Amino acid sequence: MQQPTSGANQRIARIAAHLHPPTLQIEGESSGLGRMDCRAKGGSPGFKVAVLGAAGGIGQPLAMLMKINPLVSVLHLYDVVNTPGVTADISHMDTNAVVRGFLGQQQLEDALTGMDIVIIPAGVPRKPGMTRDDLFNINAGIVKTLCEGIAKCCPKAIVNLISNPVNSTVPIAAEVFKKVGTYDPKRLLGVTMLDVVRANTFVAEVLGLDPREVDVPVVGGHAGVTILPLLSQVKPSCSLTPTEIDYLTDRIQNGGTEVVEVIRGNWSDL
Ligand SMILES: NC(=O)c1ccc[n+]([C@@H]2O[C@H](COP(=O)([O-])OP(=O)(O)OC[C@H]3O[C@@H](n4cnc5c(N)ncnc54)[C@H](O)[C@@H]3O)[C@@H](O)[C@H]2O)c1
Repeated sequence: MQQPTSGANQRIARIAAHLHPPTLQIEGESSGLGRMDCRAKGGSPGFKVAVLGAAGGIGQPLAMLMKINPLVSVLHLYDVVNTPGVTADISHMDTNAVVRGFLGQQQLEDALTGMDIVIIPAGVPRKPGMTRDDLFNINAGIVKTLCEGIAKCCPKAIVNLISNPVNSTVPIAAEVFKKVGTYDPKRLLGVTMLDVVRANTFVAEVLGLDPREVDVPVVGGHAGVTILPLLSQVKPSCSLTPTEIDYLTDRIQNGGTEVVEVIRGNWSDL
């Protein structure tokens, strides 16, 4: 039988490597050319961004959006589970940001060192039957530990908290930073845009408008009755009936609960 040529051997080896990829090395040694040996080091201008809780329901699409963002040069993905798979997947996207994965508490400091922006969706989401207060007990401890790491490894970073209840996790982060003298109110943000997005969608639905044309200011907190949609300030200006105002206020304030209920299987609540 004719032996394969060396060119054919190389092609077979390449295909075999695709079919049986070596175990992803997040940190550590490898033989031959490893990812850490490649010339791309994320040295191009841009922000160094860490996502903490990167393997979760919010973390994964967020990591993808950061990888697409041309302003990001380095993307660190940290979680206590599943970061290797998420990192491998996201790192294959053909955009400039260099992606590195970090798994578990012992790699938290490496994940944070040198970061300009830290985005935190780490924690647990609200499960059916849980209030945002129930979340507090679990997520408060997680956020505190992560912020202690930030204060130590990247004290100048802009910190963007997503973990709920945001009303409470932001003050926890502030206290951690105050304790070590790194608190800067301009660098600590809680993500509550979701309330505005929901308000725009629901108001547009009632008015029969394109949600992209509607702007509803929402102030107050980020939980139930603390969410205050300013329906008198809607742009474009409009007049809503008292029934519409009651309906919209309730729907905007309880939008998160609506999603949790549907996940539980309560379709009739919609
Ligand atoms: N602010 C907002 O507008 C908004 C919107 C949606 C969700 N949230 C909140 O975001 C959080 C995440 O939601 P999700 O749906 O992605 O949940 P999820 O359970 O899918 O993901 C959470 C991730 O956090 C990780 N995690 C847990 N403990 C950690 C720790 N100590 N360090 C690092 N990572 C840790 C988990 O392993 C998991 O991968 C929840 O608190 C949710 O309520 C906020």
